[in-house]
Amino acid sequence: MGRILSGVQPTGNLHLGNYLGAIRNWVKLQGDYECLFMLADLHAITVPQDPEKLRSNVRETAAAYIACGIDPDKSAIFHQSAVSAHAELAWILSCHTPLGWLNRMTQFKEKTGEEAESPKVKLKRIKFYETATQDEIENALKIIKKVVVAGSFVAEDAPLGLFAYPVLMAADIIVYKATHVPVGEDQKQHLELCRDIAGAFNRQYCQGYTVSKDEGGFFPLPKPVIMGEATRVMSLKDGTKKMSKSDESDLSRINLTDDADAIAKKFKRATSDSFPTIGENIENRPETSNLVNIYAALTGVTRAQVLVEFGDKNFSVFKPKLAEVAVEHLAPISSKMRELLQSPDYIDKVLARGVERAQSIAGKTMKEVKDLVGFLNV
Ligand code: TRP
Repeated sequence: MGRILSGVQPTGNLHLGNYLGAIRNWVKLQGDYECLFMLADLHAITVPQDPEKLRSNVRETAAAYIACGIDPDKSAIFHQSAVSAHAELAWILSCHTPLGWLNRMTQFKEKTGEEAESPKVKLKRIKFYETATQDEIENALKIIKKVVVAGSFVAEDAPLGLFAYPVLMAADIIVYKATHVPVGEDQKQHLELCRDIAGAFNRQYCQGYTVSKDEGGFFPLPKPVIMGEATRVMSLKDGTKKMSKSDESDLSRINLTDDADAIAKKFKRATSDSFPTIGENIENRPETSNLVNIYAALTGVTRAQVLVEFGDKNFSVFKPKLAEVAVEHLAPISSKMRELLQSPDYIDKVLARGVERAQSIAGKTMKEVKDLVGFLNV
């Protein structure tokens, strides 16, 4: 039996995207794998957090896991910060991760640096750097408040933790010698890096350990598990943007805590295009595509099947249907969540139990790692 580790950041406002893209898929894996599901609070502090809010968001996200069907008797549910091995292994791994590998991570660039520039500004910058003197370049960097990190122009106030984020993520996974990691599309690149880092560690310290090339060795090379139709749920207001907890408009997302009325209202007011019907070819119609994807994911059918059923219908028929299936799915989850949040003691007990289980696996790995690296054991 393989072992699974996954998690999301406990940043509040969990929404349909988190549910369909991540948590729901974990539920199905519980029978086939030994599962560990964490609340990634160490990752959450790569951006500023209010301490009280962070604490309550950890409980709320744990409640969401349970309400969505993660069974605390089967799977370990725990907060990352309580198992010190994550941070400890992350440091060791960071000493074996070339800056060049981290520099390829597109999420970091999107958040802090080059990709945040418009193409026009980027062109100007490149032209400028071709002809400018060293002094002129240094001055320009000061003015635009950017620094060069591993060859990239990065916001000067971007924290180191944001750059090192994927190394911590690698530690999260391999400290449990996880074999499979269910992730959304957006985390695939981080998982590939995790495999590279695990491989580098294996090659340096554990030559005799090789099991098979694919499985890795001391650290197994974890495989991504990407499931279902709606791994990427988009905003209900803009089909080209991911559904996000930080979007200003609450109408852009379905929160797991929304009641039936709110869900119906949001789908009714979701942006659609000016085509009269859902149609058959929805490739270049992001809003329609998104609604069809969500319907497919909620009902467990393919996009094609949704189009057969609704292709000739207009939105005034499709949207209420969509709202209906969404309510059917989400209403029990949100009421269960509300119920769980009434008993924080119960949630804390679940977490404490999860921490203990996680700790027993991670502690063992850390002991082995310290021996391999050459730390004195006295
Ligand atoms: N980076 C993931 C996200 O933002 C969360 C995460 C942290 C994670 N560590 C992980 C996911 C390990 C899978 C495995 O969604």
